[in-house]
Amino acid sequence: LQISPFISSLPKVELHIHIEGTLRPPLRWTLAQRNNIPLQFKDQTYKTYEELLESYQVTYNHRPELGGRKDVPTFLEAYFAGCEVLLQEEDFYDLAMDYLKRCQEMKVRYVEPFFDIQAHTRRGVAAEAVLNGYLRAQREGAERYGVKSQWIFCFLRDEPVEDGEAVYETALPWATCNGGYGLFHAVGLASNAYERPPILFKNAFARARADGLHLTTHCDFGQKDTHEHIRQAIFDVGVERIDHGLDALDRDELVEGLRTRGIGLTLCPHAYHRRTATEALFPKLRQLLDKGVKYCVNSDDPVYMHDVWIDGNQEKAYNYGGLSKAEMVQLGRNAVDMCWADEEVKKSIY
Ligand code: ADE
Ligand code: ZN
Repeated sequence: LQISPFISSLPKVELHIHIEGTLRPPLRWTLAQRNNIPLQFKDQTYKTYEELLESYQVTYNHRPELGGRKDVPTFLEAYFAGCEVLLQEEDFYDLAMDYLKRCQEMKVRYVEPFFDIQAHTRRGVAAEAVLNGYLRAQREGAERYGVKSQWIFCFLRDEPVEDGEAVYETALPWATCNGGYGLFHAVGLASNAYERPPILFKNAFARARADGLHLTTHCDFGQKDTHEHIRQAIFDVGVERIDHGLDALDRDELVEGLRTRGIGLTLCPHAYHRRTATEALFPKLRQLLDKGVKYCVNSDDPVYMHDVWIDGNQEKAYNYGGLSKAEMVQLGRNAVDMCWADEEVKKSIY
């Protein structure tokens, strides 16, 4: 995917990226050596760097009737397998610094990365190692690369709610509120949404709101019960943004809810394009504009999605969505508008 000079030149704000989805193979290899961890997935061991690279050919699902393969990991399985090399504070720091450096190369000026702390604590990693590693990178990344960041704590929605609430309690001193260290300013929901509607986390969200944090949730494109999940997110939980949420287009009451409450969508076109025909997908970007739904273009998990980053996603929206240069600039402004940075930071971006 070639990035045009126009897309390259745009200053960018990234609002939908999972930090663990930016762990590039060279760093994963280095961390495996450093921590003496075998690189593996189920019964397969990746003994050489080339074998590791092949493991990134993930499948969308395991069901052949849906075009999936049984012999390779699903995207989420590969993502969590990648996490296994992250053990020490230094590892989380290195991961985040590697990403913030990548941001500088793409002219990303400000980013709100998601982090899946439970993906690490459930493996026995100390919450402090994760939080301090990311905190140090937040500070040094801003200095060294000029990339500011405010992070988003994600509950793993397919784990018990109480587990997430307990980790949240541990992490709270690292939040922006109550004179905390200032790493994260919001909470969200990630991982497998199957039979895990946002309403299950209603109390956890209410608690975070009471603590002064912002709220968002994933409602991935084309998932089971997606319309009901979006409805709950808008009307029952009261989130401020929705991650994906493209299926809202199918229902007038959802479009109206997004519009009247000013809820923006953080879209990741390439994530949908992996499993949706161009003609079925990209007209939706125009339809959202026509209906007055605010959205911005983001990347999700670049390393596990064919190495397509925010610039590649914008390139796809520009080329396949038939958007004008002025409209692409407007989508960039939308991201500034939708982000939860302080006003001075917002002013410094665009
Ligand atoms: N966690 C990390 N990446 C994710 C994605 N794309 N969807 C759901 N959960 C995730
Ligand atoms: Zn995501």
